Amino acid sequence: MKRFKPQSLKKPTVAIILAAGRSTRMITDKPKVLHEVSGRPMLAFVIDACRNVGIENLYIVVGYGKDQVIEEFKDVPNITWVYQAEQKGTGHAVLCCREHLDDFDGNCVVLCGDGPLVRTETLKELIDKHNQEHSYATLATAILEDPTGYGRIIRDAYGNLQGIVEQSDCSPRQRAIKEVNPSYYCFDMQTLFWALDQIKPDNVKKEYYLTDALHIIIQSGKKAIAITAVPPEDVLSINSRHQLAQVSKVMQTRVQQELMSKGVTIVDPSNTWVDARAQIGKDTIIHPFTYIHGNVKIGKNCSIGPFAYLRDGTVLDNDVVLGVFIEVKNSHFGTGTRARHHSYIGDAHIGKDVNIGAGTIFANYDGKEIHNSKVGDKTFVGSGSILIAPITVEPNAHISPGSVVDSNGFKSLNDNHIENTEKAQSDE
Ligand code: UD1
Ligand code: CA
Repeated sequence: MKRFKPQSLKKPTVAIILAAGRSTRMITDKPKVLHEVSGRPMLAFVIDACRNVGIENLYIVVGYGKDQVIEEFKDVPNITWVYQAEQKGTGHAVLCCREHLDDFDGNCVVLCGDGPLVRTETLKELIDKHNQEHSYATLATAILEDPTGYGRIIRDAYGNLQGIVEQSDCSPRQRAIKEVNPSYYCFDMQTLFWALDQIKPDNVKKEYYLTDALHIIIQSGKKAIAITAVPPEDVLSINSRHQLAQVSKVMQTRVQQELMSKGVTIVDPSNTWVDARAQIGKDTIIHPFTYIHGNVKIGKNCSIGPFAYLRDGTVLDNDVVLGVFIEVKNSHFGTGTRARHHSYIGDAHIGKDVNIGAGTIFANYDGKEIHNSKVGDKTFVGSGSILIAPITVEPNAHISPGSVVDSNGFKSLNDNHIENTEKAQSDE
């Protein structure tokens, strides 16, 4: 994702992110904004888009499940959590921030927490235009083939913005309008509060609509503009599980395209899933049916899959090969280490040039606790071995196929289980 210097913000700019809604259509007990898209809660993408355009101070309006949301983002700095006890509409949600921003002389970007596809570039264009045009209210709009469900942008015969009408309040003629409101706004903060003081819930849903503030600002003679700056695919916000899946698909394509643009080969993108947090080095090849979930770091020139499952905390140095049906969790692999077939490696620190034979299992859990393993450089682990953690295997060890090894050196299933490990230990 591109970063833009904060200097591009001429006036001090804050952001308000609306995330208080319960989302009845999701059929969920979990706050909507915590549902994950490419491995991250959807709200995280909106926060990142603001930060990447240089906005430091964020005001996030929470309501349903607020404690869970706050807990999830407790390590993110400069967030003021604003509680909206009752969800009376998007306009009311913004007004809940007033006690924190009543003295703030600057711009305010308003976004919704359920729109993770928002791009930094679009926000930059929105803010730049707002400043260049000395506007009091600026929106970024999109043209959709099927505008169903969205607020429609009303313009006069000259193209000047007149307001937004919600789908449920549209006349049949307004319904035909294809220019919609994705809910990306930039306002002069005090003008917005002034306008919101005047909105009334006289609409089909009996809610205080943020969109009504525009009409009031325009009526008062202050400049308000709409720029058609949002690519159609970005507009989709998440109100249902179906839309969650659709947005996830768009996001997954973005994640993979970003990796490919940095020199990663993804052999079959539609049959590969990569977490938005994953980092992958150039010339690494990801083979089909690979699932990379969580904070995973893969070096250069590695080969992953087909059918590999890499989980949170996996770190691979360069030239690592993970082949068919390999599951790796919270483990570090040194340069040139290989595990080509059918293995589980969990909570292990594995050195360089180690060969992990087919069907090797790291038994990291004893039924009560998780334990760590360490395997030294250039070790050979024979096929079908079980390493019972906690265990340390010294460098250059040779573990025979079919061995069951624990911290006492070995448990035998056969007679020739392990050689150099014992020797290395007795050398100490
Ligand atoms: C809103 C816009 C609509 C736009 C659409 C784009 C209004 C009135 N309408 O409609 O023009 O096309 O977004 O996605 O703004 N929220 C609160 N508190 C509330 C109500 C809502 O925090 O009292 C939050 C929700 O959690 C959600 C966001 O505001 O994240 C948008 O609310 P939602 O009800 O989804 O609005 P839409 O009907 O989608
Ligand atoms: Ca919505």
